[in-house]
Amino acid sequence: MKPIQPAKRTAEIRHAIRDVVPIAQQVEKSGKKVLYLNIGDPMVYDYRTPEHMWQAMLDNKEKAEGYTDSLGTLGARKAVADYAMRMGAPEVSAEDVLTFVGGSEAITLSMQALMNPGENCMLPNPGYSIYTGELAFLECKANRYDLDEEKEWEPDVGQMEKQVNAKTRAIVVISPNNPTGGAYPKSALKKVIDVAGANNIPIFADETYDQLMFDGEKFTSMASLAKDVPVISFGSISKNYLAPGFRGGWLYRHDPEGAMTDYFEAIKKFSRLRLSTVAPVQFAMEAALNGPQGHLKELVPKLQRRRDLTYKRLNEIEGLSCVKPKGAFYAYPRINFPLPNDSDKEFVIGLLKETGVLVVYGEGFGQKKGTHHFRVVFLPPEQTLGEAFDKIEEFIGKNYLGKKAAHARAGERVP
Ligand SMILES: Cc1ncc(COP(=O)(O)O)c(C=O)c1O
Repeated sequence: MKPIQPAKRTAEIRHAIRDVVPIAQQVEKSGKKVLYLNIGDPMVYDYRTPEHMWQAMLDNKEKAEGYTDSLGTLGARKAVADYAMRMGAPEVSAEDVLTFVGGSEAITLSMQALMNPGENCMLPNPGYSIYTGELAFLECKANRYDLDEEKEWEPDVGQMEKQVNAKTRAIVVISPNNPTGGAYPKSALKKVIDVAGANNIPIFADETYDQLMFDGEKFTSMASLAKDVPVISFGSISKNYLAPGFRGGWLYRHDPEGAMTDYFEAIKKFSRLRLSTVAPVQFAMEAALNGPQGHLKELVPKLQRRRDLTYKRLNEIEGLSCVKPKGAFYAYPRINFPLPNDSDKEFVIGLLKETGVLVVYGEGFGQKKGTHHFRVVFLPPEQTLGEAFDKIEEFIGKNYLGKKAAHARAGERVP
């Protein structure tokens, strides 16, 4: 048989977070230990899903063996609505909520129901890669606004205002952000709302990490500020509730004037087309959102300690600088020395092959022209992080700063 060709529109789909894994597997096969600082999956490290979420699935076995309502169970949708209101949304009912296979499916189906070929969506630069991948698939364009590293990754709303155009269908806000760990301040959220309102477009508020804020800062939800501007908020149990494998996610709408009525119906068509959400997970989601929140009391301080170590060590490494992450579990250090071929992808692959440290290259998320970065996931224990940062320091010293070898720091800084 002749080779079967995939659809042309799949050619531009990239997902750097997963694309580096096969190279890491080769490195591992060669006998080198790989330190995985590349994937935002807490379960790879020393975290566990709260037990009552498992229990809720078992307790509802009989209700969870068949298909669910395509939109999700009423219990789970009501739990999301109550959660949205606890997070500041003025009025959300189960009718405003749809549940999905992870936040990822909520995002992709929302985009599919909105975008026509040739239109564009405003995306943060840098930003999580599902949005660019989905836009490429839909034959649409990413219209990117920079996050300003000099201002702790605040969005450049001036640039957003200049670039928004007649073909722009939505503005994506990711806060706390993947990959920078930045959180948009309230003043910036308000400015984004003004741009959306003036251009009659909705905001896609990716609030996946809304419970994971550091230094006692409180999260501000988009819906709590948006007034008459329509918002679709995305969330999931993957990160806040330590259950990425469960694949439980949702969206809720904030739409006081009913501007999104037809659009919301169109998203539901996709929900029906794929028949059902994952039934057992509906019960886990309900238990997560309505049940005890004790795990967060441990999780947030634990992440903050790892954030502190990461921020300190990355800034100690000659040639790197890093803005302090305010939320989520990512840091996005900047590479301040020239790179061959201007490629942070080559830097990251070189680092992996020589040291076994796996991070994700900045090119995979986007970055301001002329700058280079890589993303570090600071979920791992301090010991692993310390080991990785020592190796990164040695690698940079040896290969880029002309030093024979950086000092062996292990033991010195690792608690
Ligand atoms: C910003 C952001 N949005 C959405 C997702 C999707 O997560 P999930 O599909 O597990 O809910 C992720 C996952 O890493 C993310 O970082």
